[in-house]
Amino acid sequence: MPQITVVDQAGAERGVEAPLGRTLMEVIRDNGFDELLALCGGCCSCATCHVHIAPDFMDKIPAMSEDENDLLDSSDHRNEYSRLSCQVPVTDALEGLKVTIAQED
Ligand code: FES
Repeated sequence: MPQITVVDQAGAERGVEAPLGRTLMEVIRDNGFDELLALCGGCCSCATCHVHIAPDFMDKIPAMSEDENDLLDSSDHRNEYSRLSCQVPVTDALEGLKVTIAQED
């Protein structure tokens, strides 16, 4: 099972296990990071699961859909490493990933 590091909005880091088949949003939420609101439950309609992916992992995750791209456009904190964590499935390629919860809009 991949080990990933989650960085919260205050900059604190914690290592967590990421079960295959889950999404990054589920992993972060299930490990008690309440600041990741994930209000829509993962159906790509709220943008409250916004995270920043470590740059060297951007090519290890699936491409962004048009819907995800549109939703991220509504965030003031979007950057080139932004993703909606509910749209990123956990795979073995994510071993060692560092993911940062975006600041709230
Ligand atoms: S949980 Fe709503 S878009 Fe990801």
